[in-house]
Amino acid sequence: MATQRTRPIIAIDGPAGAGKSIVARRLAAELGFTFVDTGALYRALAFVARKAGVATDDATMLGDLANTLVRTHALRFDFGTTGTRVYHDGTEISTSLRTSDVGIAASLVSAHAEVRDAFLELQRELGESGGVVFEGRDIGTVVFPEADVKFFLTASPQVRAERRVTEQQNKGENVSFSDTLTQVQRRDQLDSMRVVAPLRRAKDAAIIDSSALTIDETVLLMAHNIRAFDFSTEE
Ligand code: DC
Repeated sequence: MATQRTRPIIAIDGPAGAGKSIVARRLAAELGFTFVDTGALYRALAFVARKAGVATDDATMLGDLANTLVRTHALRFDFGTTGTRVYHDGTEISTSLRTSDVGIAASLVSAHAEVRDAFLELQRELGESGGVVFEGRDIGTVVFPEADVKFFLTASPQVRAERRVTEQQNKGENVSFSDTLTQVQRRDQLDSMRVVAPLRRAKDAAIIDSSALTIDETVLLMAHNIRAFDFSTEE
């Protein structure tokens, strides 16, 4: 594939709760790259669809809605170093997108080919000039199969559920471990069993299991892998 890029694209895929966002953001900051959290696209669509009364199984309506949102620039994403801020028609919706309900709804709407097609070009445009760390589910397999460095960041469902519980507790919300574990497993199943662009490791992605690693250790390990890569051999 011909590329205009002079700087690399780093793809980080993996299941929900593996720490992709924090690690990708930190890595991007270290490299002086932009960070793009692609889950925000699907979360935003799920949120707007719910407000508009569009069901999560209505592929045609969801595809139309996604296309309209892209075409009219009704959604604005600010992938900053402290977190992703999302605006719909000028109103910030970032906090509303972080709930587990929206996470599950995002998982359901993202299973439709119509929706994935609508967001594909937008993601590729965001990576046009390179120098971007993308995190998602299908970055290394579908969006940027030619990404320069690919990671599949994972952790055991138990560890991911524990992290989610701590995260919620830090926000002052009490959630049970068993409910959270069930949600983590449900999302894994939805994301990996779907027919279109399922969550799976790209053949050339390095697997990083963060179960026993701190965030710092994970970032270090990934930065080490990236440094070992000789970008100068690229076009
Ligand atoms: O990463 P996240 O939890 O914000 O993602 C929310 C949902 O969006 C996730 O369950 C599956 C979907 N998603 C996707 O299908 N492809 C991506 N590249 C990113 C997210």
